[in-house]
Amino acid sequence: MLVTGGAGFIGSHLAEALLELGSEVRVLDDLSTGVRANVPAGAQFIEASVLDGAALSAAVRGCSVVFHQAAMVSVPRSVAEPAECLRQNVMGTERVLSAAVDAKVSRVVFAASGAAYGDRPVLPCREDAAPAPVSPYGMSKVAGEMLMSVFSRQYGLSTVSLRYMNVYGPRQRPDGPYAAAVSAFASALKAGRRPVVYGDGRQTRDWVHVSDVVSANLLAATSARRLAGEVVNIGTGRREDLLAVLAALGEAMGVRPEPQFGPERSGDVRDAVADIGRARELLGYEPRVDLRRGLAELADSAGAVRA
Ligand SMILES: NC(=O)c1ccc[n+]([C@@H]2O[C@H](COP(=O)([O-])OP(=O)(O)OC[C@H]3O[C@@H](n4cnc5c(N)ncnc54)[C@H](O)[C@@H]3O)[C@@H](O)[C@H]2O)c1
Repeated sequence: MLVTGGAGFIGSHLAEALLELGSEVRVLDDLSTGVRANVPAGAQFIEASVLDGAALSAAVRGCSVVFHQAAMVSVPRSVAEPAECLRQNVMGTERVLSAAVDAKVSRVVFAASGAAYGDRPVLPCREDAAPAPVSPYGMSKVAGEMLMSVFSRQYGLSTVSLRYMNVYGPRQRPDGPYAAAVSAFASALKAGRRPVVYGDGRQTRDWVHVSDVVSANLLAATSARRLAGEVVNIGTGRREDLLAVLAALGEAMGVRPEPQFGPERSGDVRDAVADIGRARELLGYEPRVDLRRGLAELADSAGAVRA
């Protein structure tokens, strides 16, 4: 099995789960946002970009499944550097698919994104709605899904795209201007700083625990169905706003958060929640981790600040 981006947040949890199941695991990662320490012991690590053809071919050789998690993941960075985003996320995905065809891989599972929906007023988001991304990042993820489908059709490769909603859990990076909300909140609360909320905090998201995303990947990899480019939402089907998440996290950490409000971020969507009917039907997926439980566990791993 190959996990691209396996030194990152989601990829490292996936690599760990695959090792626990007894699989041989290779991780290919350029460490642009991932860290070497995230790669679980027992996985073979290749430090390279998916854009490095020779390294990628060597990494894919002999693998039955490729989990393509590597990407430029930051929406604001994609707005600042659209060409680089397309190079990493679209060209990078094409390279992974071509290498998979050459190596006769049996399936590629792609980390797509709920960013494909853009700022849709019709909720919950269903996969049959026309994509309407509002950022280069979202657009690059839709292009990746299309590549998955085209490579199935043209080269007979089995592929599936999992549109993750807002993933949270341990090992998500809390640092930098592009950090995901939950990890940035946890890190600020732990350090006794005021968490920064961009916009009014009433934006809603479908928060899905990383262990549920890992389960979805394992189900997608092992499904006996003939998967050929299907797009599948992976979320919880519930939404909660940022201020409610912050309050729940504060409660779990034993502090009363006093948010500091910043400007709305360009490219951010207002509301999002997934319809997960297709994931249930096609993959037998069922989210297991309730948001409050997931946040409480995160608070434990972040170290509670209770006296
Ligand atoms: N975290 C979320 O809420 C979320 C939501 C939707 C989709 N996704 C997708 O899930 C995947 C994993 O995201 P994450 O949250 O774990 O982010 P992450 O930044 O922790 O992981 C991405 C990993 O990819 C690596 N990488 C980036 N460009 C690379 C390249 N060209 N070649 C090789 N490695 C490269 C990074 O070093 C990093 O380790 C991404 O494709 C992302 O778009 C994440």
